Formats: sequence, C-alpha cells, structure tokens
Amino acid sequence: MDNLFPGKRKLYEGKAKVVFPGDNPGEVYMVFKDTATALNGLKKGTIEDKGRLNAEISDILFRLLEKRGVRTHYLSKVNETTLRVKELRILPVEVVVRNVVAGSLAKRSGREEGTPLPRPILELYFKCDELGDPVWNDEHVLAFGAMSEEELTEVKEMAHKVNGILREFFGERGLELIDLKLEFGRAMTYGSAGEEVLGPIVLGDEISPDTCRFWDKDTQEKLDKDRFRRDLGAVREAYVEVLRRISN
Ligand code: TMP
Repeated sequence: MDNLFPGKRKLYEGKAKVVFPGDNPGEVYMVFKDTATALNGLKKGTIEDKGRLNAEISDILFRLLEKRGVRTHYLSKVNETTLRVKELRILPVEVVVRNVVAGSLAKRSGREEGTPLPRPILELYFKCDELGDPVWNDEHVLAFGAMSEEELTEVKEMAHKVNGILREFFGERGLELIDLKLEFGRAMTYGSAGEEVLGPIVLGDEISPDTCRFWDKDTQEKLDKDRFRRDLGAVREAYVEVLRRISN
C-alpha cells in the first residue's frame, strides 16, 4: 500500500480502511487497504489491489450521489487508495437495504437466495463488534437512544434514495444491486473556541463490492465480496469487472 502518511498517527484502523488526520479541521484521509475479513473477523485474507479498486469505485459512486443531491462525506480523491472526506461523528446504526434475498436474509427468512423482493427491505444493525452487530428495529433504536426519531426518519429516507439511485445506475450497466450496507454520521466542524459543532447527517464510509452485492444481470454471476466469503475464486477479477462496468 502506498503511504501518504509515513509515521503519522492513525485516528482509527478498521478491517478494510485506515483513517488519518486531515490537513484542515473537520477533514480526514481514508486509506483503503487490501485486507479482507469475513464471518465476523474469523476469516482473514488479502485481495490483491482491493484498496485501489475500492477507493476508485467509492470515488465514482460518491460523486454520482453528490450530483444527484445526496449529502455525503466525500471531498476528493488524493491518490490511488485515499479519499479526503469530512470527519464524521458516526451514528451507531448500520443500514442495509435489500432488493433481492441473499446472505443473512436467506438464512433468516428461509427464502431462496435470488428471490426478488416486491419492495426493498430496510434493516437496521446496531454497530457493536462484541455483539456481532445485532439486527435492531426502529423501537430498539429509539428506546436505546441510538438515534432520535428525526434522525431515524432522515437516515431511512436517505438510504432508500441511495438504493434507488445506485440500483438504476448499476442496472444500466448490466449489474443487479442485490443489497447494500450504508453508514451515516454528522459532519464535525469546529466553532471559534475550537468547540465541536455537528452538521447535518451525511452518508459516510465506503460503497464498494465489500459493502454491496452485485450480480451480473445475464449470468447471475456474483461480482462482490461473496467470492471471498464463500471461496468462489476470481475475487480480484470481480472487483475489476465492477470498476470496468461503472467507468464509462
Ligand atoms: P448480510 O446478507 O450478510 O446481512 O449482508 C448484507 C449486505 O451488507 C451485503 O451487501 C454485505 C454488507 N455487509 C457489510 O458491508 N458489512 C458487514 O459486516 C455485513 C455483515 C454485511
């Protein structure tokens, strides 16, 4: 991985990304890594070139969403594996939107993977590694104070909008958006006394084959991280193909 930040203190290191302090207040650098995990971290590996591919795919998709009026943390791409983004106070709930039954929903519903849904299903997961990110509904979110009612309404509206835009975009490129995972937060700015001031809710994290499922519309071939999770082979080639489809 090329490193813009030799010796620089990390703010945070996750399974697929490292976050470094930015050069301006309220900004950070998000560096995409080649490492991959699955099964709650039990399965670990490396997908050659994944950092570069996911940074480029996320760059294209965040710019598309911004153009379509979705507020995101995206600011610019600074090198092959690094995006400059707004610093966020992340909301502690992940949002999954599903258009077709797959993955954990196939297990929980008993429906066969590949079954189309008559309307998208939006799911909420409490972000907590120790608990394995449990599924929550609106009532858990509100009773445990993870988000206010206004925040929950806004996050759900934004998630459906993002799903609609991306589903159409990928559909036009021969890819079916099966499901996707989104994270939201509030942009952090600083007041005159250096105090933290929280801005509006924006879409954060990444949008890539690590966090979405894409199937080829004609062949139903899986072109996402399920190739790694399920040892299907040709993992890197799938990410390259997704980037190729959205690059024109
Ligand atoms: P699931 O079917 O395993 O619940 O996954 C639903 C979608 O969310 C799928 O596109 C993969 C993505 N996802 C993540 O980005 N991170 C995770 O930790 C999990 C479990 C799923």
